[in-house]
Amino acid sequence: MRRLRATPALRRLVSGTSLRVDDLIAPLFVREGIDEPVPVASLPGVVQHTRVSLGKEVRRLADLGIPGVILFGVPAIKDATGSQAWAPDGIVQVALGDLRDQVGDDLVLMADLCLDEYTDHGHCGVLDAAGRVDNDATLELYARTALAQAEAGAAVVAPSGMMDGQVGAIRAALDGAGHAGTVILAYAAKYASALYGPFREAVDVEIAGGGDRRAYQADFAGGRREALAEVALDIEEGADIVMVKPALAYLDVISAVREVADVPVAAYHVSGEYSMIKAAAERGWIDGDAVALEHLSAIKRAGADMILTYLAGEMAEALA
Ligand code: PBG
Repeated sequence: MRRLRATPALRRLVSGTSLRVDDLIAPLFVREGIDEPVPVASLPGVVQHTRVSLGKEVRRLADLGIPGVILFGVPAIKDATGSQAWAPDGIVQVALGDLRDQVGDDLVLMADLCLDEYTDHGHCGVLDAAGRVDNDATLELYARTALAQAEAGAAVVAPSGMMDGQVGAIRAALDGAGHAGTVILAYAAKYASALYGPFREAVDVEIAGGGDRRAYQADFAGGRREALAEVALDIEEGADIVMVKPALAYLDVISAVREVADVPVAAYHVSGEYSMIKAAAERGWIDGDAVALEHLSAIKRAGADMILTYLAGEMAEALA
């Protein structure tokens, strides 16, 4: 085996997996009511953007060749239903409008579609009288949010709340309002993970009463059958792209989904995965750039066609 590993050129020639800038999607946060970007302490190098700094960052990423960004909004006011998620002047809608004017089709504008950033209780949907997330009442609000995002200029909406039937409800709403061309990137096999901690700092979300999302996100100890069932349902309901999230602890799931799905597969290298690299690198315990490349290459090797990652910008620079 070593004959083919002798030189860098030989290794390049025979390498099976190559990470490309075309595979990367950058998650970005935009916060209402701030004049300067606010650093997110647990995500070194990541900030909550102002509308202006967001525009500059997206231009920079487009110039680096990154094909897509996904926006997360942090509203000034949160309420019980998360109404800023679909308000025409909600922060993500306004930011999408800015970006549509500034970058047009130079890269794909995506919007995360969920309510947790917008609700005062931090759940991904509205609550019923018993305080549980009401699936069908939430679908109605997701449909409204999808329309608001599409109208504001999102080419892709990405439902991440793990409500049953969310893709079908959103597809029907979009088609019924003249947005048949809007793509749905479905968070399909999304696990109730402890790796989302830094993200919740980035979007100022605390789940009320120390709650969690285990009643709607998948159990990480669950089987492959459950993941494949989620994916099959989402494709049947009209998902154009299906996603597995997080990525590294779920490479088996990515690989299984890639084998059965007839649509592109995305993987989300989430906040905790990024923070672990940054924290260990900061201590000099690992070479952060090398580990980043190794991790993203492994996600690609497992079968992901595209990767959402906070490393997108630095990886694009490294690959250039
Ligand atoms: C929900 C959402 C979450 C993430 C993406 N979309 C948080 C959650 O499910 O609690 C996490 C992303 C990350 O950790 O990087 N809107």
